[in-house]
Amino acid sequence: MNALTRDLKHMTDMVEQTADPGSRFRQKLHLMPPVGWLNDPNGLCQFQGIYHAFFQYSPFDVNGGVKMWGHAVSKDMIRWEYKDTALYPDQPFDCHGVYSGCALIDEGKMYLYYTGNVKLEDKEYDYILEGREGNTILAESRDGLNFGPKKLLMRNGDYPSDLSCHVRDPKVWKEKGRYYMVQGVRTKDNAGQVQIFESDDRINWKPKKRISTSSPFGYMWECPDYFTVDGQNILSASVQGLTGGIWEERNVYQSGYFFVEGDIMTDSYLSEYQLWDYGFDFYAPQSFQAEDGRIILLAWMGMPDCEEYGNISTIREGWQHCFTFPRELYKKDGKICQRPVRELEQWKKAEREERDYLSAEGAKVYDIRVSGIKANRFRAVLGEELLLEYKEGYFRMEFENRDKEGTSGGRGVRRSEVAVLRQVEILADVSSVEVFINDGELVFSTRYYPRHYSMEICCKGASIIETVF
Ligand code: FRU
Repeated sequence: MNALTRDLKHMTDMVEQTADPGSRFRQKLHLMPPVGWLNDPNGLCQFQGIYHAFFQYSPFDVNGGVKMWGHAVSKDMIRWEYKDTALYPDQPFDCHGVYSGCALIDEGKMYLYYTGNVKLEDKEYDYILEGREGNTILAESRDGLNFGPKKLLMRNGDYPSDLSCHVRDPKVWKEKGRYYMVQGVRTKDNAGQVQIFESDDRINWKPKKRISTSSPFGYMWECPDYFTVDGQNILSASVQGLTGGIWEERNVYQSGYFFVEGDIMTDSYLSEYQLWDYGFDFYAPQSFQAEDGRIILLAWMGMPDCEEYGNISTIREGWQHCFTFPRELYKKDGKICQRPVRELEQWKKAEREERDYLSAEGAKVYDIRVSGIKANRFRAVLGEELLLEYKEGYFRMEFENRDKEGTSGGRGVRRSEVAVLRQVEILADVSSVEVFINDGELVFSTRYYPRHYSMEICCKGASIIETVF
């Protein structure tokens, strides 16, 4: 351990001791940072039976400072035990942030690949074409608790020469004895794309292929991921720079996926981009395969560079952001659907079923399943201000009051077209709501900060099951 690592560890331990696990908006079913700021999920995996989640972590600054990898473990993806910081920004090649990356489980070991971010400061730079390093780094672990030493694998000079300095967020997989990596890139002429690399030994990597849409689609793709759900190959990317038309009423940045038709290594094309989530708070998702074969998706339940709304209520408590609830992905009628992981069942305390109408006071952590919806009739109000409603062909998530200090934190309305509404599931935790529509064909996620916990569901002719956790 070098002197910087030692001091960073000491300071992190000290600030974590100030954490208040009892503060009002901390949640029960979601992974949160002990103190300070969290963003992307990193290195998601199941290793020797235990789930590991790393996260972009800034313990010293609740509004996001230099990033390191926080680390938590779990037996069920729901109750997380916080472990120490796994990777600190303590080397010349990652001194401005241990940025996002992944875990590869191979031959009994855990391999963490990430981006070492460096911003040069010797003169004025634009940090797009000059002045930024996006280094690809590997840290190994035998036990999933101790990581290192770090090995620098690639620098910007090793990437194709048409790329800007923005190359980051490696995601690695193994196929037929070879290793492949996707990284998100911004080209010098401002196109967001994905660069595939290949390796025989996990260490030496060469650029293999560039993946892009037929016409330009945003200026940067972050956190790419390539995986297969029920036989369908999927390329996921968090896209920056979509403007005009439908994008104007959506979030500042988007997270979604393309179906990949054909062989991605040689000749393939991408389908239309589908959003993973239509709510306010969802970015930088990452998938992993559980040991039982399920493909699980987790995302940061937050939004970068968002001025419209925020999380004042938890900032005051000294922490900000959480992950989404883990979601199982599956294919149904040609669509990729999401549902809360089945482990949730184990935590249920009570259940009741009503027809047409259900209301409750005081419950903070619950799941509502509404099925047999007739004639698209659906309306729910949570925490007195969050309205979920079907109206004129759209499913809407809308806050009645947009005060940044209040329940919404400044959030307004999000909507998506739905032809026939059949089923809705609402998973509410203390300060978050995730709504799964038609068996998870569409999802809406949001943070919320109710002053008073209440819930009212009106849905004539439907069955409404409430489960309390
Ligand atoms: C996405 C992202 C990644 C980067 C990380 C830094 O939210 O910008 O591209 O690696 O966050 O925290």
